[in-house]
Amino acid sequence: MPTILVTGALGQIGSELVPALRARYGADNVIATDLKVLPPSGAAAIAPYDHLDCTEPHQLHEAVRRYEVGAIYHLAALLSAAAEAAPQLAWSVNMSGLYNVLEVARGYGCQVFFPSSIGAFGPTTPRDGTPQVTVQRPTTIYGVTKVAGELLCDYYASRFGIDTRGLRLPGLISYVAAPGGGTTDYAVEMFYHAVRYGRYTCFLGAETRLDMMYMPDAIAAMMDLMAADSGRLRYRNAYNVTAMSVTPAEIAAAIARHVPSFTVDYEVDPVRQAIADSWPRSLDDSAAHHDWGFAPRYDLEAMTADMLARLRSKLAAARSR
Ligand SMILES: NC(=O)c1ccc[n+]([C@@H]2O[C@H](COP(=O)([O-])OP(=O)(O)OC[C@H]3O[C@@H](n4cnc5c(N)ncnc54)[C@H](O)[C@@H]3O)[C@@H](O)[C@H]2O)c1
Repeated sequence: MPTILVTGALGQIGSELVPALRARYGADNVIATDLKVLPPSGAAAIAPYDHLDCTEPHQLHEAVRRYEVGAIYHLAALLSAAAEAAPQLAWSVNMSGLYNVLEVARGYGCQVFFPSSIGAFGPTTPRDGTPQVTVQRPTTIYGVTKVAGELLCDYYASRFGIDTRGLRLPGLISYVAAPGGGTTDYAVEMFYHAVRYGRYTCFLGAETRLDMMYMPDAIAAMMDLMAADSGRLRYRNAYNVTAMSVTPAEIAAAIARHVPSFTVDYEVDPVRQAIADSWPRSLDDSAAHHDWGFAPRYDLEAMTADMLARLRSKLAAARSR
């Protein structure tokens, strides 16, 4: 069993991916790393944990050498809204970080998982039924780094034979860790505000349709793709995946079926609305279904019921502490 290294492990995805990997492959076989320096008690709680800045190649080399790493889930990145606020930093973290990961993978023969995004598409991409192979001319720095990252993964696979695998993830909805500055954060916030306050002010327009997925489906997709038969994978950059194509109004209505007094008003943030308007409304993910059996379990109704139940018990537990 090769050791697995996760970068950016303290973020929204890593907080759930690391426990899932440890449950499947053993706690000692999964090394969590992040830019954040944790106090000793915090690091001990999620051990094995190391501070690792993915923009520092020697730190990556040292971790991969020391732990004899065979697979890297490279999650560290700035998300869309955070990247737009700091484009130069986003280029450095998203591009240098991935380049360093691919170089260390080349040196040590590691498998690499790279999370691309619906942000890798742009306003000239077909927005409905967005094909697996299509126009990719994003207008955000986040999207630019995701397209360049996809191409770099393709290049390292064809030129150096590196086993790169990736997903174009949609907006992810989860209750364990807060989202990290993306355009689809509203969907998570809506659930929290419904349980806490019964009302929410949404920063995207009511009819803004985007792809979404519940975190358990995203975690399963990442692990299934990494375990899939290599010979069946036609794409080494990233596979389109989605579980639902929904608007803020539709999520609000689904929540209101459980919280009848829930109300939403809309104060559109022009920056994030412009980003959302440049993204697809619904992806065609048939290649992922065909090549490695992608099959999400949660639709909007199932996700809403589970999310609200989990959030209620999480917030009740926090109150009783
Ligand atoms: N969450 C989503 O909805 C979503 C959707 C599509 C794609 N993705 C992609 O998935 C990946 C993980 O997303 P997330 O939501 O967990 O992000 P997040 O912002 O919640 O977490 C990112 C983590 O990376 C860490 N980090 C930042 N700079 C670093 C550096 N230089 N070195 C090491 N760590 C660093 C941060 O401390 C943070 O813990 C990203 O590549 C993101 O683009 C996420």
